[in-house]
Amino acid sequence: MFARSAARALKSQSRLFSSSAARQTKVAVLGAGGGIGQPLSLLLKCDPLVSSLSLYDIRGAPGVAADVSHIDSSGDVKGYAADQLDAALEGVKVVVIPAGVPRKPGMTRDDLFNTNASIVRDLATAVGRVSPEAHILVISNPVNSTVPIVAETLAKAGVFDPKRVFGVTSLDVVRATRFLAEVTGADPANTPVTVVGGHSGPTIVPLLSQSSYGKAITGESYEKIVHRIQYGGDEVVKAKDGAGSATLSMAYAGAKFTNSLLRGLTGEKGVVTPTFVKSPLFADQGIDFFSSNVELGPNGVEKIHEIGPLSPEEEKLLAACLPELKKNIQKGKSFVGA
Ligand code: NAD
Ligand code: LMR
Repeated sequence: MFARSAARALKSQSRLFSSSAARQTKVAVLGAGGGIGQPLSLLLKCDPLVSSLSLYDIRGAPGVAADVSHIDSSGDVKGYAADQLDAALEGVKVVVIPAGVPRKPGMTRDDLFNTNASIVRDLATAVGRVSPEAHILVISNPVNSTVPIVAETLAKAGVFDPKRVFGVTSLDVVRATRFLAEVTGADPANTPVTVVGGHSGPTIVPLLSQSSYGKAITGESYEKIVHRIQYGGDEVVKAKDGAGSATLSMAYAGAKFTNSLLRGLTGEKGVVTPTFVKSPLFADQGIDFFSSNVELGPNGVEKIHEIGPLSPEEEKLLAACLPELKKNIQKGKSFVGA
């Protein structure tokens, strides 16, 4: 009951569960037992474009699967235990990865690198072996490094397709949209904000000047909202006080991005959203992964959009983003030996 009314509410709010075509898809969640994994699995179970859900974790996934499988939507759900990763990946078209440790107060996302890099590398290795055609959506932090790790791991296995590897930066977009709506008193449906760069502090670059509501914000209000968008994750980490980072808003953002990809895969035209992908935009500066608006289509990445005109303030934000992003990307590549 809750799931159906929640799904209806979410659909009307945000097109979270919008579907324009009949073809459906098998989706795996790796890390399904976690703080993000559980609500993400719930939301994906409610997505009509997901025909089958494969839930894997080193602990707890069969329990989550049993629970979620009772929801009265049409998709099948199966849970897999720690030693069943290959079985979990059999026949999947989309793999969402929220596996890994979250931050505690005082930590940066980069502090998670030592633990999460090998988790993500090992999962990518399994995807490359069992379902090399799958689209991989990376949520695990630090995204600026874990996405290059996935790409280089697949490249080493000879199965990397840059159209099929995505860093999920949608939470930055969701936050920017919500915070702008709060400041302006507008409906969030009317305040979408493009966010480019990467996913950590100064690498998060909101392009408020490209929004009719956003461009009206100046001075101290501008500084405040930009800081809130760049450090929104810290707000949640602080409020949870040692119990982890954003899980519910992330599950929402992850389900929303997954639905966008599925709509693109099923042939819907004009599905455009920011995501962190292998990108030519700043490759001449040695930054070959970047988040910008990307059109999603039947093969994944259809078209990478230019970032468009920037205000002088945004030029400064971008200048601060690029060197940090370059370091994070290089760290991920070096981990895989690239
Ligand atoms: P969590 O600790 O609640 O859950 C992580 C889950 O991963 C656990 O269930 C754990 O058992 C599982 N796991 C660990 N190693 C695994 C492996 N090898 N294979 C499969 N599963 C494994 O953490 P969380 O709050 O769900 O956060 C997960 C990750 O997502 C963190 O790295 C966090 O920083 C990141 N995150 C990213 C964003 C974003 O915007 N991209 C937002 C929020 C959180
Ligand atoms: C977020 O933006 O909420 C996530 O990246 C989690 C974090 O560590 O802040």
